[in-house]
Amino acid sequence: MQGVNVVDHPLVQHKLTIMRDKETSTGSFRRLLREISLLLCYEVTRDLEVTTRVIETPVQEMKAPTLEGKKLVFASVLRAGNGLLDGMLDLVPSARVAHVGLYRDHETLEAVEYFFKAPSDLEDRLVIVVDPMLATANSAVAAVQKLKDRGATNLRFLCLLAAPEGVERFRNAHPDVPVFTASIDEKLNEKGYIVPGLGDAGDRLYGTK
Ligand code: PRP
Ligand code: URA
Repeated sequence: MQGVNVVDHPLVQHKLTIMRDKETSTGSFRRLLREISLLLCYEVTRDLEVTTRVIETPVQEMKAPTLEGKKLVFASVLRAGNGLLDGMLDLVPSARVAHVGLYRDHETLEAVEYFFKAPSDLEDRLVIVVDPMLATANSAVAAVQKLKDRGATNLRFLCLLAAPEGVERFRNAHPDVPVFTASIDEKLNEKGYIVPGLGDAGDRLYGTK
């Protein structure tokens, strides 16, 4: 599907399989998500524009590549987005961070906002929204809409797992925002969980169930 990028790197797929396993501990789940986030970050930033600047190596002067433009913004959809955020900040330590607090109402599956804080100049920056799960896409659609309402015009959405229904809904709502994911699973179940999925990402990440 146009605008949807599935990161099928063997290391990503191997780590994802361990994360899906219900026997995997909270500690391992958290560590694996952090490791995968480095690899996903590499893919979602692959086409960033570079310019050159003159530096002096110990041997001679050279024009060397450097990232162009303003610092990136990573927008974490709380809570589970923070499991991706930490590793991404290891790779891009200068990135600015936005936090979008949303939870899914278990009855209606609607996203309920409880927190929002972002840099004030979103219009000048590439905003990469991170959340491990794209299920109904209610949360992702709301998070991106909120960031657009606050000025963001250049966005990407990065997740670990997506449901086909969620990808379709997200792309219809925000056709200008490309999606990066490690897998598009089979379907959503009647409770809005991704099948086969990995369960509740936030609970597995923080041991809250
Ligand atoms: C999970 C997940 C997404 C959302 C995806 O968060 O991290 O934000 O569900 O579902 P959707 O596509 O159907 O909206 P949850 O609401 O469980 O909150 P948490 O991260 O605090 O656990
Ligand atoms: N949120 C999760 O954490 N897991 C799902 O499968 C769906 C939504």
